[in-house]
Amino acid sequence: MNRNLPLIVANLKANKSWDEVSTWIDDVVQAAQKFKGTIIFCPSYPFLNSSFQKISQNGINLKLGSQDISRFEQGAYTGEVAASQIADLVQFAIIGHSERRQNFKEDQKILEAKVKNAQNAKIEPIFCVQDENTSIPKSLSIIAYEPVFAIGTNNPDSPENVQDFGKRLKANGTYTILYGGSVSAGNVKTYVKEHIHGVLVGATNSLDPQKFIGIISSLN
Ligand code: PGA
Repeated sequence: MNRNLPLIVANLKANKSWDEVSTWIDDVVQAAQKFKGTIIFCPSYPFLNSSFQKISQNGINLKLGSQDISRFEQGAYTGEVAASQIADLVQFAIIGHSERRQNFKEDQKILEAKVKNAQNAKIEPIFCVQDENTSIPKSLSIIAYEPVFAIGTNNPDSPENVQDFGKRLKANGTYTILYGGSVSAGNVKTYVKEHIHGVLVGATNSLDPQKFIGIISSLN
């Protein structure tokens, strides 16, 4: 990953049907082709395969990521999706999002198992941290700083706080550092500079392709 070029992650969360996901890709494609950095598209599990086919067949400048990954390697775990099962489709997996930590009680031990499974399957974790007290498993490359108060609230953290966070993180290792939480076309440029390499955009401004295109264009 070239840290000099911006990285944008689109996390659609549990939204959209396949038809809508397909239309989203169609709408975003023009802006994506012009974008010099990397866009990681994270639809729900059932749409990873069709998204993969569409993106690869049409040479679209989108990489695929999953929104999560199982803590288990494989086997008798009904409803889970193992890293090895989607390793051919995705290059990235979001791990440790606050919505997983809160709604599914994912603790550090579980998250470390997820990171390990992803890495064993050659999937790059995008590890979300909520504040300075969040522990970070070893050997990670991409960290997303995502303060809970900023997620889905249109109340983003200040660019100063975000830069400070990135600076402190950098002192502990070489990371690609993202900011997530109410990122919009209007504020994205205030974040992506110096210590922050990109953004993680959730439902607020990724579901509507026009809003997401606005973010891409602001960083180009
Ligand atoms: P938001 O979500 O962009 O809707 O605030 C960010 C996230 O959940 O990562």
